Amino acid sequence: MERKGLLIAFEGIDGTGKTTQIELLAEALRQRGLSVVATREPTDGQYGRKIRELYKNRKSVTPEEELALFLDDRREHVAQVIGPALALGQVVLTDRYYYSTAAYQGAAGHDPQKIIAANELFAPVPDMVIIIEVPVSLGVHRVQKLRGETLNDFEQEETLARVARIFAGLNGRNIRRIDGTGNAGGVHAKIMENVAGLF
Ligand code: TYD
Repeated sequence: MERKGLLIAFEGIDGTGKTTQIELLAEALRQRGLSVVATREPTDGQYGRKIRELYKNRKSVTPEEELALFLDDRREHVAQVIGPALALGQVVLTDRYYYSTAAYQGAAGHDPQKIIAANELFAPVPDMVIIIEVPVSLGVHRVQKLRGETLNDFEQEETLARVARIFAGLNGRNIRRIDGTGNAGGVHAKIMENVAGLF
């Protein structure tokens, strides 16, 4: 599919503030007259719904089946949402993408680099990947105390420490690391500085 738009992926462990930052960036770009599609993974499609069922019972599938579900969900996301939006010239902001698979399913024992290579066979490479970084303890605190949620099976603290280490080791020219410990406005300003060159 011909690609005219821009794809920006937001990544990081749980509780980094990705969702808030996507809302702020989407609003700022719309004010500049850009057509923005904000989307997320897991999606609300057939595979995304199956993934959400695993939040309480991750052990009900094998690590291979789990990886396959995230890949199926992404294939559908690319075919139905990301690809068509890019072809129309829109700016796509995705809350998680294949770097999450590398980090989370990597933390579960798969090879992160192989996961990235398998995804890049069908998923457009983002123009920019913004990895928001906070200490694991702060991410966990935000999920538990501020959202009032209990940690799901993907979010146990030890697992997240492994996930964070994989995110920290990823490199590529499109990757930017942003400190997510400050207030939302300050983090947004840093993101704006980073994406400015894309437009
Ligand atoms: P999250 O962004 O918390 O989704 P929501 O709050 O909308 O349900 O993501 C759900 C979990 O899925 C999160 O803990 C990370 C995990 N995940 C993976 O393990 N692999 C992946 O490829 C993706 C996209 C997410």
